[in-house]
Amino acid sequence: FMAAPPAATPHTQLAFALSLMMAEAVGLVNTLDNWRVVDKIIMSTKTPEKKRIFGKGNFQSLTEKIGQTAGITAVFVNVERLSPLSEREFEEAWGVKVFDRYSVVLHIFRCNARTKEAKLQISLAEIPLLRSRLKNEMANLDQQGGGSRYIGGSGETLIEVQQRLLKEREMKIRSALEKLRRKRHLLRSQRKHKEFPIVSVLGYTNCGKTTLIKALTGDNGLQPRNQLFATLDVTVHAGQLPSHMTVLYVDTIGFLSQLPHQLIDSFSATLEDIKHSDLLVHVRDISHPEMVNQKVNVLSVLKNMQIPDRLMSSMIEVHNKIDLIDNYQCPEPNTLAISALEERGLGELRKAVEAEIVNSTEKHILDLTVDLSTPQLSWLYKEATVQDVQVNADEGSAVVKVIISAAAYGHYKKVFTGP
Ligand code: GTP
Repeated sequence: FMAAPPAATPHTQLAFALSLMMAEAVGLVNTLDNWRVVDKIIMSTKTPEKKRIFGKGNFQSLTEKIGQTAGITAVFVNVERLSPLSEREFEEAWGVKVFDRYSVVLHIFRCNARTKEAKLQISLAEIPLLRSRLKNEMANLDQQGGGSRYIGGSGETLIEVQQRLLKEREMKIRSALEKLRRKRHLLRSQRKHKEFPIVSVLGYTNCGKTTLIKALTGDNGLQPRNQLFATLDVTVHAGQLPSHMTVLYVDTIGFLSQLPHQLIDSFSATLEDIKHSDLLVHVRDISHPEMVNQKVNVLSVLKNMQIPDRLMSSMIEVHNKIDLIDNYQCPEPNTLAISALEERGLGELRKAVEAEIVNSTEKHILDLTVDLSTPQLSWLYKEATVQDVQVNADEGSAVVKVIISAAAYGHYKKVFTGP
């Protein structure tokens, strides 16, 4: 088990970055049931352009170490992707299965996928792995002169048939995913129609997103787990704000500082939803030793995703797990301190969410006088959020406090108050 650092980083920073990378790599492995880290080592690597990752001496001492350590059944080389050549070379030299970051993270995803969409995304992310495995086999067969043999009079070689099947599989998965995506678009526009504001809850994996949403919505179906990437699928849960306005909380996939890029691509659809929200809530685990770096990473991923400015500036930053720290005071302004587990600070958070939603969705809080002999009140119940009704029985009217969008209010005036 080992971690490979990036080259050319100043010394002190490098030591810090290395311990961080190692901790995260160990965390990844421990996430998996029945996987355990037997030993770990940090070794310098060659630049990515070089064919071989390790120098000769390093490779040799590594091979000896692996041979001498009891209980090793697999080796995790903490680089983003191993070339098929290196993978084969390592497996042959060490006699055990070799993983890179891509295959470990993919395995974690596979263990956590629940919905059809997540499973399809994983199958799609597996294609590059199958393709490099095929390349490997091809190199093997070529050595034996078998790779270019034609089969069954089809005019195709074995390798060509396998490549074609893989391509067909990829196309099938892509089209199934596309269908699901279209369905989601439809759901999104239906949601828009009903005007339920959408609040995306995001943050590092294991920071407490699911626990928070559960506490805010009372949705007992949600199962928070102390595991990386417990939430692979985007799930939506309805919750009420102090004014009785309903919002939809979206639980997003957790962030990880070194998520392999290709995996980010295949899961970008999941994160795409963030762009269509009305508000972002960034949850931080303030008990985590790397909380500062984690924030930097989350912000840089959001920046790369080109999240609209209005969402970035209205984002609410929540410091979670304050129960683990005595007398926690937020060091940064405009942040809220909470404990999702002990349900502390949630009232303040709901108020902050409401204020931002009223702001960002251009909703107004109005007192409207309605005539109770008309359908005005039932219209308001349907199209806006009714907060309070004060009936004046003598006059057959009522003063209704509502949260209403500019568009719905325009419609209301047109229907009920005439030109
Ligand atoms: P992913 O789905 O992996 O992205 O994780 P998540 O961010 O949804 O985290 P989740 O809600 O699953 O919580 C992870 C762990 O942190 C669980 O064991 C929770 O019980 C714990 N946790 C969440 N909030 C708090 C909190 O306020 N205090 C403490 N002490 N633990 C918390």
